[in-house]
Amino acid sequence: MTIHMLPTQPFDGQRPGTSGLRKKVTVFQQPHYLENFVQSLFDVLGGLEATGQVGQALHGKTLVLGGDGRFHNRAAVQTILKLAAANGVAKVLLGQGGLMSTPAASAVIRARQAFGGIILSASHNPGGADGDFGIKYNASNGGPANETLTEAMYARTQVLTQLRLSDAPDLDIDTLGTRQLEQMQVQVIDPVADYAAVMRGLFDFELLRGLLKRGFTLRVDAMHAIGGPYAKAILEGELGAPAGSVVNATPLEDFGGLHPDPNPVNAQNLIDNMADAHAPDFGAAMDGDADRNMIVGRNFVVSPSDSLALMTAHAKLIPGYQNGLLGVARSMPTSAAVDRVAKALGLPCFETPTGWKFFGNLLDAGRATLCGEESYGTGSSHVREKDGLWAILFWLNLQAATGQSVETLVREHWRTYGRNYYSRHDYEGIDVEVAQGLMRDLRAALPALPGQTFGARTVRLADDFAYTDPVDGSVSRAQGVRLLMHDGARVIFRLSGTGTEGATLRVYLECYESDPARHDIPAQQALADLVALADQVAGIRARTGMATPSVIT
Ligand code: G1P
Ligand code: ZN
Repeated sequence: MTIHMLPTQPFDGQRPGTSGLRKKVTVFQQPHYLENFVQSLFDVLGGLEATGQVGQALHGKTLVLGGDGRFHNRAAVQTILKLAAANGVAKVLLGQGGLMSTPAASAVIRARQAFGGIILSASHNPGGADGDFGIKYNASNGGPANETLTEAMYARTQVLTQLRLSDAPDLDIDTLGTRQLEQMQVQVIDPVADYAAVMRGLFDFELLRGLLKRGFTLRVDAMHAIGGPYAKAILEGELGAPAGSVVNATPLEDFGGLHPDPNPVNAQNLIDNMADAHAPDFGAAMDGDADRNMIVGRNFVVSPSDSLALMTAHAKLIPGYQNGLLGVARSMPTSAAVDRVAKALGLPCFETPTGWKFFGNLLDAGRATLCGEESYGTGSSHVREKDGLWAILFWLNLQAATGQSVETLVREHWRTYGRNYYSRHDYEGIDVEVAQGLMRDLRAALPALPGQTFGARTVRLADDFAYTDPVDGSVSRAQGVRLLMHDGARVIFRLSGTGTEGATLRVYLECYESDPARHDIPAQQALADLVALADQVAGIRARTGMATPSVIT
């Protein structure tokens, strides 16, 4: 085994987006593409620029490695191991088979006090040979690398000239145990164990066992992604849910052709099952890397924004949060339902830009305990990622503790706090120039909007969301255009930072209704005038040529 210094040339476009670097598998398969990105990461982590010496800060360090099992996962693991060994990493904790869910990777980094971790996933994006692949780095707090680090990595990718790579043969990544690669130890670990221990510490497993024993039924759709092994081990294995409660439980390289993005469109099968006369009591789905969740009752889909609000309202019923919450945080486009609960409970409530990385400082500083995003993401301070199975266990625990169904819980919540009608309209695959032009013109139009009236609504404030991190003072600008109405309704526009083809425009719509007699209007109907307003202000249809959004959630 020898370590080689291989000459390489920079690739364009290796700037990490909302959640790491995501590209088509075919892009990642180009010679040196993955190698360049990982070498740049190691150069930055190793302080190469600062010290002039390779791998300085990586000596003696442990990294966690694993992915969601999508196509190219196994090949990428072998490459990363050879790079890590050549760059002075002391030890890699590798999930068996190269697998680890995103929240579990966060849990392992924290439990084992690793220096950081590399997660291979394109989250909810489709997989397979012609699907997407992705890679991201999480720091020692278990959370996504901050922008300072990702920008430094990106800068490094642009000037990179050399790779350090071991020519060792491929390693056995499927058998538990420790093996050697150059001077580096590779310990293949059970990817579920550390994570399950964290869950045991948060939820009342005894109560849940009792609930399931009494015949409470559930259907958890893992969408042939990495959530399957976790859900099976915990829900069926430990809690005694009948075999088959977790469906699509085997991770497949192409997710069985499913689009592993748990929303009512992609998880139609679950929605159908939950609308059936013989529907189970509770339904849920997770995404490709198991950090997202969709919660479904009998014939009743819970909006992620409502889920966060409800969790906040009932947190004290869950053992892990029985002493109350330090605060809550939501991304800016997420509905303000949680704000009302926070106000009622006297909790600090933070509004951050889109992307889980913005919650990291608040969680680390003990200023927030629960966080959530409208994009089917909820989580807490137990790890530094959103966490699909955690949300499922939270809802199960809540139902066991209250004896109430999902629908009853949500309806009671609306009666107490009012309902924030909410929807997101995605326009996918737009020409990049067109999308950027739309946002540019929209931003230019902002100063003239306040005071303008559209039907029953008047614009109170129109701006481009900027966020000052209350912990480190860093400022993130241009995080999405907000139109805030006098009555609290909102329309928000931003471009996706996770797509791999063309541009995706996301339009977020929200209005508030306090009157319980008006809590049963279909969401699209309640929001119809805001949809029209959005088109009038941004010219979506005219510019994109799309009469309707490609996805409505
Ligand atoms: C999307 C979601 C965002 C989430 C991210 C990673 O990002 O909108 O809330 O944090 O995926 O799961 P976007 O494509 O909008 O940049
Ligand atoms: Zn995900």
